[in-house]
Formats: sequence, C-alpha cells, structure tokens
Amino acid sequence: MIDRRCIEVYETGEAVGARGAELFLAAAREALAARGRFSVALSGGSSPIPLFRHLAEKASRAGIDWRAVHVFWVDERGVPPDHAESNFRLADELLLSKLPDPGAVIHRIAGEIAPDEAAHRYEADLSASFPDEEIPVFDLLFLGVGNDGHTASLFPGMDLDDSSDRKAVAVYVEKLRSHRVTLTLPVLSNARHLVFLVTGDAKADIVAGLLEDGEGRRYPASRVALMSSRVTWLLDTEAASKTCQVLKTWQVS
Ligand code: 6PG
Repeated sequence: MIDRRCIEVYETGEAVGARGAELFLAAAREALAARGRFSVALSGGSSPIPLFRHLAEKASRAGIDWRAVHVFWVDERGVPPDHAESNFRLADELLLSKLPDPGAVIHRIAGEIAPDEAAHRYEADLSASFPDEEIPVFDLLFLGVGNDGHTASLFPGMDLDDSSDRKAVAVYVEKLRSHRVTLTLPVLSNARHLVFLVTGDAKADIVAGLLEDGEGRRYPASRVALMSSRVTWLLDTEAASKTCQVLKTWQVS
C-alpha cells in the first residue's frame, strides 16, 4: 500500500497553527484559481484555536476573495450558536467575524434544533452546495483527534458505514452525554486534502496508536485517514513524542 500521508512536527501548538494557516491560504488560492470557489470544513475543540488566530491575522493581506470561500464544519455540538461549547461560535469569534467585509459564506450546522432535523438540514445544504457531486468534495478539511481515537463526532464503537449515502448524521455520545451532528466517513474521506491538527502531551499515546494502526481498524480517525487520498498530520513535539513514524522536525517561517 502506498503511504499517502505527510507528517510534520513543530515545536509548539502555535507553530502548528501557523502551518495550518499556510496550508489553508495555499489551498484557497489554488481552488479559487482552478474552480472559482474554495470549500473548507473546520473542526471544533481546542486544537484549531491557533489556526483561527493566525488566519484572522493574515486574512486581510492574503489576497483571497473571501466571498468565494465557503466555510462548513466537520461536526457541531447540540447547543445554540452563542453557547460556550459551540464549534461555530469558536470559529466565528476568532476568525469569521474578523474577515474583511462581507466575509465568507457560512454553512453552519444548526446545533440549537433537534439533532436529526439539523443533520437533514445540513445534508440539504451540502447537496445544494455540491450539486455536481454525489459525495461532496471539500478542498480542505481540518480534523482533530480525541484521546480515544475519535475524529469529528465519529467515536469508537459507532457503526461506521463507508458505503452510507448519508452525508451528515446525528449521533448521541454516551460518555459525553452529548448530542452532535457530524459529517460521515464517506464525506470526510472524500476531501481533496485532510489535515489533522494534534497538539499536547495528552495526545502522545493516541498519535502513536493512530499512526501505527496499519489497517485503520482500531480508531475512527485512522479509518478516515486511510480512506483519504491526501493526509497531512500537523503535530507538536509533545503529541509526536511517542511515535517512531517521525523522521524530521519542521520549522515554520
Ligand atoms: C469537537 C470535535 C472533535 C475534536 C476532538 C479534539 O467538536 O469536539 O470536532 O472531534 O476535534 O475532540 O479536540 P481537541 O482539539 O480539544 O483536543
């Protein structure tokens, strides 16, 4: 099997965020030149915070037509958009509200309504936004990883159907006692480029497990990664400290 992944390790989470911002802007320029539109999906959690800050800082000088940038989410928690745990709120506060006017096109998941209804609404938005594709093809997708190997809201123990025709589904995560809506395995793994942002020493064991999970059987995150055509792992030295897959540490300018 050909290894299509790239693993980059940076000294700090801040440097991981800066590299994520470089990848975002490069992918945006490429997609806008090739197709006139850039579709990106963001994750929640703490790992994308430095990415959002770096992007916000560069946004107005980046030479990007933000009106042609379509922002989606890989998942959302079952909370209103102004709630402390809302993935939309985090991205909006740190990045989207700071883009030059009139900003990007926002495709929010409605965490405030019944999860099944929110998933169906999100699917309708995805079908309308990707009318020529049976499975949406995001230009770029950012993902985080939980200590249990979950990604987006695909958790271990869930029945992950790689041939499902659902684009988004509602899930109930027992251990978090939380309703969520998530993109499905076929959609996540269909992106042109998938970037995992993983930082902190609490992630060292799971990163080692994921990168060595040859057939992607043990964890949803490795399953998504192995089904994808292009994957970049952006790690900090702490998250990478227990994996032997790393050959070099990168610097970000
Ligand atoms: C969410 C996510 C989730 C997250 C991981 C990692 O809504 O919680 O999208 O999959 O990316 O749990 O979270 P951290 O970045 O906080 O470690």
